[in-house]
Amino acid sequence: MNGPVEPFKIKVVEPVNLPSEERRKEAIREAGFNTFLLLSEDVFIDLLTDSGTSAMSDNQWAGMMLGDEAYAGSKNFYNLEKAVQEVLGYKYMVPTHQGRGAEHLMYSHLVKPGHLVPRNMYFTTSKLHVELPGGKMVDVIIDEAHDPENLHPFKGNVDFKKLQKYIDEYGIDKIAFVNVEMDVNMAGGQPISMQNLRELREFCNDYKLKIIYDATRSSENAYFIREREKGYEDTPIINILNEMMSYSDGCIYSSKKDCLVNIGGFLATNDKEIFESTRNMVVVYEGLHTYGGMAGRDMEAVARGLREGTQYEYLKYRVNQVRYLGELLMKANVPIVKPIGGHAVFLNALKFLPHLSREQWPAQTLAAAIYEDSAVRTMERGAISKGRDKETGQNVFPKLELVRLTIPRRVYTNSHMEYTANSIVNLYNKRDTIPGLKMIYEPQYLRFFQARFEQVPL
Ligand SMILES: Cc1ncc(COP(=O)(O)O)c(C=O)c1O
Repeated sequence: MNGPVEPFKIKVVEPVNLPSEERRKEAIREAGFNTFLLLSEDVFIDLLTDSGTSAMSDNQWAGMMLGDEAYAGSKNFYNLEKAVQEVLGYKYMVPTHQGRGAEHLMYSHLVKPGHLVPRNMYFTTSKLHVELPGGKMVDVIIDEAHDPENLHPFKGNVDFKKLQKYIDEYGIDKIAFVNVEMDVNMAGGQPISMQNLRELREFCNDYKLKIIYDATRSSENAYFIREREKGYEDTPIINILNEMMSYSDGCIYSSKKDCLVNIGGFLATNDKEIFESTRNMVVVYEGLHTYGGMAGRDMEAVARGLREGTQYEYLKYRVNQVRYLGELLMKANVPIVKPIGGHAVFLNALKFLPHLSREQWPAQTLAAAIYEDSAVRTMERGAISKGRDKETGQNVFPKLELVRLTIPRRVYTNSHMEYTANSIVNLYNKRDTIPGLKMIYEPQYLRFFQARFEQVPL
């Protein structure tokens, strides 16, 4: 089995070092068994996240030199606005420093105390930005998404029966908007179909309900639509994106993923009222409405990256490199979420470490053990990420207890994928020797970033 051929050649390299076994053991203990607290220089292959970790192209770097660093009216802002209009089809755009800045502006504007926000599975920062103004995020994804073995081609789809149930139970006035994520991160990078988006629009029109996308990985989602949905086999990705977005009232977008840059974000909409309110608030929290926390050069890189990230040959390589890693693991019977997602391979920690209880945090344990074994950095996506129930204060144990091997875009070669797969297969073969963890420090917000743990002897 060969990995996909890269549609680029390498112009600049950054050396990486494999730390000794002794140093790895020490480093993960210093980090409290939390891979977010490791020093990057202690990491050999960094699969922590695909966020802000892309390699930019020569065209993007050339654009960085054309940064117009004026406080107001930077020409790079207008280039970005034009790219958003052309690639996504929205009329208005408000720039922010990254995705959560856009979530803050959009969700604090739309959510009032007591509101519900139904979404096709939560995402950590999105859930928090709905809760901070007094709302609650509820899950309306299809059941298949909660089953790692289910092969549904569009596990990101919304279940209309679940949505209807919330409307009937709470009343339409209590629903702030419907929030739809593209290529659903916490479900394993699973796409939503065009048909589901179209039907959702019709459903919401009946109730005059707004639909706001988390369009962060919309280009990768568009690739899956082209690959899997009848009628889109030959459609240019940009046309697919324009159609997807046409079924929404607006979106938030973390540019740090599909736009192939290291920083940036925005919100976009066709709704003048949303635009005017959020454009006003951006000056309070992010910066003037023509930079929103980004330098001019960053906006130029986002503008160019948004277009580049829709090239079919690039997306095909991208999705297939993720698939290559997943297939190497599947061949050795390592339990992963299927179908293999767009940005990452997710290990099923409950099956990998069946000797641990949920209170011993299997996914956190596995991410730490992978680092100690091979200096590959991954991250937990399970109960630690989910956090506590807002009302009861109790830990919530989602069905999916996963470790995410997130592939940065255009950064690692296929032999890095092979090293990673071999290391994880070796670890899988000695999985019953891995002890669980106890949480000894828990911060109030987004605990997965900063929590600390210690080992519980077997
Ligand atoms: C689906 C999704 N939404 C929102 C965000 C938040 O974006 P940022 O990290 O740029 O603040 C992320 C980041 O990982 C994400 O994956």
